[in-house]
Amino acid sequence: MSKPFVYITRKISNDVVKDLEEYFTVEMWQEEEEVVPRDVLLNKAKQADAILSMLTDSIDEELLSQSNNLKVVANMAVGYDNIDVESAKRHQVTVTNTPDVLTDTTADLTFTLLMATARRLPEAVDYIKDDLWKSWSPYMLAGSDIHHKTLGIVGLGSIGQAVAKRATGFDMNVIYYNRSRKEEVESQLGIQYTSFDELLEQSDFVVCMTPLTTETEGLFNEETFNKMKNTAIFINSSRGGVVNEDDLYHALKQGDIKAAGLDVFQNEPIRADHPLLSLNEVVALPHIGSSSVETRTEMMKLAARNIKKVLNGEEPVTPV
Ligand code: DGY
Repeated sequence: MSKPFVYITRKISNDVVKDLEEYFTVEMWQEEEEVVPRDVLLNKAKQADAILSMLTDSIDEELLSQSNNLKVVANMAVGYDNIDVESAKRHQVTVTNTPDVLTDTTADLTFTLLMATARRLPEAVDYIKDDLWKSWSPYMLAGSDIHHKTLGIVGLGSIGQAVAKRATGFDMNVIYYNRSRKEEVESQLGIQYTSFDELLEQSDFVVCMTPLTTETEGLFNEETFNKMKNTAIFINSSRGGVVNEDDLYHALKQGDIKAAGLDVFQNEPIRADHPLLSLNEVVALPHIGSSSVETRTEMMKLAARNIKKVLNGEEPVTPV
């Protein structure tokens, strides 16, 4: 009997591939930076028992309905808005993601982005490189304080909680909004639950940590930016679709809010001529929340473990 076929949609660690090759026939799209073309993906999916996918691959009804052997899609991300989970259910395809292994790394980056935005780090780095530094001066590149300020976290999943934990070390007052209240976490971390509107009104930093769903799409828009303080700093390291970028641009331009730190965008990769990138008040990163060598390797390993489990007829480690 031939071995099950696993298709990996991006070049990943050789060790992880070798491990899978002990049990399966494995093929991989060999590019590190280039998304697998749609026709190649559809073609491979038709033959595959398992796909190890990236958040850049659309695993939709078209693909799932043609993939008769497919048993598992193991997404190398905690988010899975690139996958039509309902359709996967209908086609009896298990979907898995990679939670937990990336929690601390993503929280580190979120807090780094918050600090870089508040203290205007990219501007300061350019200032020196562009040889603009004339002398020390009282308000040169003066940013906003972080310590003792109010941090509002929208979406208190495990990454939101890890951000809260970091913030308490900076003596911040942490409030959160989540679909369901988490009283145990509140007392553990010393944080308070508020309504969404209260959070917008009270926070000096609004940190978006919600997944992208039909409920959260465009959640941050003209109306919500208007409710924030005009000194507020908005941070997003979850998904770009949660933000209306035109509204964010106007809110920054008009001074409705002060600055934004963004690791994710509606359309990725965002191009350099995007209006948001013309603003000094925007610190932008190319979706690197979980990008440490250690964590990305753990994410690959976890996705591979999920594939092995499902193709062995066992329960996956981290089903969605
Ligand atoms: C995820 O896992 O969903 C992240 O966005 C990728 O780093």
